[in-house]
Amino acid sequence: MQEILKRIEKAHDFIQRQSNLKPQVAIILGSGFSGWISGLKQIFNLSYSEIPGFPTTSVIGHDGHLILADLEGFPILIMQGRFHYYEGLSMQELSIPVRVFKLLGIKTLLLTNAAGSINRNYTPGDIMIISDHINLVQNNPLIGPNAEDFGTRFPDAAKIYTNELQQIALLVSVKHGIRTHNGVYVFVSGPVFETPAEIRMMRTLGADAVGMSTVPEAITACHAGINVLGISLIANLASGMADHELTHEDVMKTMDQVSPKLHGILSELVLKLAALS
Ligand code: HPA
Repeated sequence: MQEILKRIEKAHDFIQRQSNLKPQVAIILGSGFSGWISGLKQIFNLSYSEIPGFPTTSVIGHDGHLILADLEGFPILIMQGRFHYYEGLSMQELSIPVRVFKLLGIKTLLLTNAAGSINRNYTPGDIMIISDHINLVQNNPLIGPNAEDFGTRFPDAAKIYTNELQQIALLVSVKHGIRTHNGVYVFVSGPVFETPAEIRMMRTLGADAVGMSTVPEAITACHAGINVLGISLIANLASGMADHELTHEDVMKTMDQVSPKLHGILSELVLKLAALS
């Protein structure tokens, strides 16, 4: 834990030196959401490998950059590409970026991801605003000595996803003409996609969509008192629900098709979050 805290401090010191601006909103862009940054005015753009103490990522299609951008006068901190448990990083390492955000003064964190639909009423291209999650990975970033400077030993997880932010996201998403749901995200380790039997189990448990990210970051943010909004783009029908094989390429194809609409939603939503903070 001491080593992780040192890495958090190092990364914070380095990032803080890049700009005097004080962003209050951060966004982690999941696969398929990354194109959003191309239309933004960038203040700095750091490769994860340049940031002392930061983890580095290995997944193809997840280019890793920490960007400070100006969105109509609001500084916004953006992670383009995220870290995943399935890459072999420890849960404690996955906590580093969000804790660095906390030290930088972030109040609101928008987590985006691609997910597979478990709920039979969802179709690829829909959006699900995360109302709650189920952690099927029997591990989480708070295990180990408590990082007292960030939060309490036993945080309450009943309201990780801030209600008010969910309402705002719902209005913005519907306005942009995307079918939008409120649902429960179930976190799996991956990298193997689920079996059909696992998906049936998850449906019985009350999950609406499944993915391999977001929950470690949401738990870390909850512990640190950061407001969280989670948005899943439904990229595919979950295992066993479609009549063809499930591949990563399929997931990326759906993301590409809906990305123009997604970008519009993100711009409006992040602006609203910044104005609130
Ligand atoms: N399962 C797990 N993770 C995912 C999926 C899926 O079907 N689609 C996108 N990420």
